[in-house]
Amino acid sequence: MSTSVSRRHFARLFAVGGSAALFSDPTWAQQAAPARALAPGGAAAGETFWKSVRDQFVMPPDLSVMNAANLCPASRPVLETLQRETQSVDRDPSPNNRARLYPEKENTRKALAEFLRVTPDEIIITRNTSESNNLVSSGLDLKAGDEVIVHADNHPSNLTAWREKGKRFGFSVVTIEQKNPHPGQEYYVEAFARAITPRTRVLCFTHLSSTVGDLMPAKELCRVARERGVLSLVDGAPSFGLLDVSLADMQPDFYSGSAHKWPCGARESGVLFVNNTVQARLWPSIYSAYPGAVGFSRTFEGFGQRDEATMIAFRAALAFQEKVGRAAIEQRARDLSTQLMAGLSKMPGITIWTSPAPELRAAIVSFLPGTLDANKLATALYEKDRIGIATRGGQDRAGLRVSPHFYNSPAEVDRLLAALTGYLKTGV
Ligand SMILES: Cc1ncc(COP(=O)(O)O)c(C=O)c1O
Repeated sequence: MSTSVSRRHFARLFAVGGSAALFSDPTWAQQAAPARALAPGGAAAGETFWKSVRDQFVMPPDLSVMNAANLCPASRPVLETLQRETQSVDRDPSPNNRARLYPEKENTRKALAEFLRVTPDEIIITRNTSESNNLVSSGLDLKAGDEVIVHADNHPSNLTAWREKGKRFGFSVVTIEQKNPHPGQEYYVEAFARAITPRTRVLCFTHLSSTVGDLMPAKELCRVARERGVLSLVDGAPSFGLLDVSLADMQPDFYSGSAHKWPCGARESGVLFVNNTVQARLWPSIYSAYPGAVGFSRTFEGFGQRDEATMIAFRAALAFQEKVGRAAIEQRARDLSTQLMAGLSKMPGITIWTSPAPELRAAIVSFLPGTLDANKLATALYEKDRIGIATRGGQDRAGLRVSPHFYNSPAEVDRLLAALTGYLKTGV
């Protein structure tokens, strides 16, 4: 753009004023990735509907990323909101313009409460699951003699965090080892119940493990904890936005999640649910300005200057999920992983780490691809076949992890299965 064109360009934009003028400019409109209509009929309309869902994402059609457990793409409605709100602040960062963002943030809190079926008083908007988990492990008053029980399959933010803070504050951490294949929900209920002693203060597990996709008996474990006077922290990073989670039903004391995973929100927004009944026991870890306006957020969420655009876009992500249908999203992701499991189980040499029982898994599938090098295979799949999946290194249930979501399709799963079959024959 020459200087004169550039001047004219901006003069034209700002002469008219307002975001409507901004978005009527084709350059901006293209960047804003405007939302498109969903095909009528919902999930019952089959692939036509799901194709219209996929069109709400800016991933090129030939690229198949099945890595939802790690990072999901934001949908067009989210990108649109993010850009609109970001530009609003950058065009006018005055306190007057920013004042309207605070009620908007509270609307996100309300939407999160509805989504998780709890009250806005119990919702803290964080940056991500890691922060949410750490706000719990840093905020509880634990000391020498106290015990915390963790599941070995927890993420570092809910495992290393407890172990390191145990060293610092003197409490001990008891680990419940994972079993593979998933030994059944009853096994874990008994294992956790047996580990509880009069010194146990907290019990922590991941709703759906991000390692191999083991579904844990969340409601039962929270009940066992409650009955024994123990607090429960459920890491919901892999279940929030995938399963139709109701915290009213699960009744944890704490539940954490990230917008940028299965909810397909903007990056760096997360949630921490803190049950009304335990709020008095959780100290804030950060004291700063700009707290929330209702309930626990008034004293706990003064995290300083935030990116309101990201938090407002979080609401757009939840609204998009509701529009598609949460039950339909869960079913779609489950169906795709069932299709994948069925295909993998026919391939000689593959060891599947994920449970074959549908009630013990959801949409995360991990497997060892025979004698093939998992890293080389994942690279070949990406570079030659345009398929993006994750690798799992180390000795523990190593290999590949595939986590399809509602923007993926049966054709993409077939494409992955065909590519794997080829590499198993020819090598990578
Ligand atoms: C089970 C689990 N907990 C926590 C996290 C951390 O999420 P974030 O990086 O969004 O904080 C992850 C990320 O993969 C995860 O799988």
